[in-house]
Amino acid sequence: MKLPGSLTLTELLPPAQQGGYAVAAFSARYRACVRPVLKAAVDLNSPVILEISQRELGWFQLTPRDFRDAVEQAMRELHATVPLALHLDHSWDTGVIHGAIEAGFSSVMIDASAQPFEENVKQTRQVVEYAHARGVSVEAELGRLTTTDQLETEGDEALYTVPEEAQQFVERTGCDVLAVSIGTAHGVYMVRDPKIDFDRLAAIRRLLPDTLLVLHGGSGLPAATVHRAIELPGGGISKMNVATDLENALLAAMGGLKRMTSAELDAQDPALLARGLSAVEAEARDKIQNFVRSAGRAERVH
Ligand code: 13P
Repeated sequence: MKLPGSLTLTELLPPAQQGGYAVAAFSARYRACVRPVLKAAVDLNSPVILEISQRELGWFQLTPRDFRDAVEQAMRELHATVPLALHLDHSWDTGVIHGAIEAGFSSVMIDASAQPFEENVKQTRQVVEYAHARGVSVEAELGRLTTTDQLETEGDEALYTVPEEAQQFVERTGCDVLAVSIGTAHGVYMVRDPKIDFDRLAAIRRLLPDTLLVLHGGSGLPAATVHRAIELPGGGISKMNVATDLENALLAAMGGLKRMTSAELDAQDPALLARGLSAVEAEARDKIQNFVRSAGRAERVH
């Protein structure tokens, strides 16, 4: 059953696209980081997406159910009423996708972008049929994002989304939300000002006037770049993914610890952990206020 109080991306994102802001999709990664992220959204009266990917579930040794339980507990403790989606980020295994839907995720991403076009269409279509029958929204990806931390690809190759293919892809798959590859990358940027292909984004928007668009790779992106992607004429991106910056803030505030499992983080010294979690909250606050500019927008969704 869908997590009570959670919304699909088709419910959460259209007011953002129309209102000139985006909703931040935070990969909390560790169970303990869910609460500070949600607290930032509650304090700022902002809609929010809490997400985790198939690869992250493996890295941090969590199940979709563990993640849902962490979100549910944080919602209860914070008396959270802000519009919220529980989303499965990059996943390619139908077992994981079905498991997340069963665990109560309100939205899932099928990422078959490593496959040839026809295979991507076929796999995405199958997930759309399964998810829509259960009231769950679907994000898909066409083109490949670069990565600096191997979150998604094993290398750092980029393959930009071809607008005409995107149009065909959305028509044939019925996906609700499309992740586009226009020059952002997962992980920390090696250059200070990554080159984003805004003309390509505009061409995608022209061919797909009604499709909700997502930008991945939010960490380290200059705020002005995010604002320009949101303010695209005809409706820009309405979901902005952020992962690495949260984890880096956590580990730096805890004295430069290395990545660990979610259970190992729970077992850290409570005072040290509290320092790390307040850094996560501050990072989420900053992204909500200055990046996606969704502070104060919670009531617009209802
Ligand atoms: P960053 O780690 O660069 O923020 O990317 C996150 C992301 O796009 C997750 O899908």
